[in-house]
Amino acid sequence: MSARLRLERLSLGHRLGSCRTGDPEIDHYLHHAARNEQAQGLAAVHVAVDRHDAVVGFFTLSPLSLRADSRLHHLLGRNGLPYPQIGGFLLGRMGVDRARQGKGIGGELIELAAHTSAAHITHVGGAFLAVDPKSDTLVSYYERFGFVRIDPTGVRRRMLRVLVR
Ligand SMILES: CC(C)(COP(=O)(O)OP(=O)(O)OC[C@H]1O[C@@H](n2cnc3c(N)ncnc32)[C@H](O)[C@@H]1OP(=O)(O)O)[C@@H](O)C(=O)NCCC(=O)NCCS
Repeated sequence: MSARLRLERLSLGHRLGSCRTGDPEIDHYLHHAARNEQAQGLAAVHVAVDRHDAVVGFFTLSPLSLRADSRLHHLLGRNGLPYPQIGGFLLGRMGVDRARQGKGIGGELIELAAHTSAAHITHVGGAFLAVDPKSDTLVSYYERFGFVRIDPTGVRRRMLRVLVR
């Protein structure tokens, strides 16, 4: 990531208190659930830290399998795969401290999440990075980074970025 920030796996030493994204649900997760979920193996939590050791943003990654229906085949550009499920990764939660928003950090975190996921493909396989945008406006934000909505007509906003072509 950029020279001013470094990416680390969340540990007990990180000070999370000053990182507030402005979204109460995301903030509650970071301050009250992230460490527990990571300890339980539900998600890996990656934090962006500045040169003063303050956490300025974060994202989580988890394994995810999706039903291999025709829409998923189409998005992945592969037809007739003989599997009921196809595996990938979920960009579960993400946020940037409100005071640091609008400076490209969110975009950098998305690229790092894709890069981290792609690095794991070598060892465990995986075809996509998925995200569930919290709002309709965020759909267009994730589109900037190559995510495509699985079902544009559906209620769910789930989007995928293909990791392997
Ligand atoms: C969404 C978020 C991570 C973006 O982080 P960021 O560092 O500000 O993002 P970037 O600097 O890379 O991009 C800024 C751009 O994203 C846009 N953007 C930010 N939040 C947005 C939203 N909710 N909907 C649509 N666009 C949004 C900004 O308008 C800005 O647009 P511009 O480039 O045309 O000026 C940050 O706003 C955040 O933490 N929000 C609260 C938590 C949240 O919603 N997390 C995502 C859950 S799915």
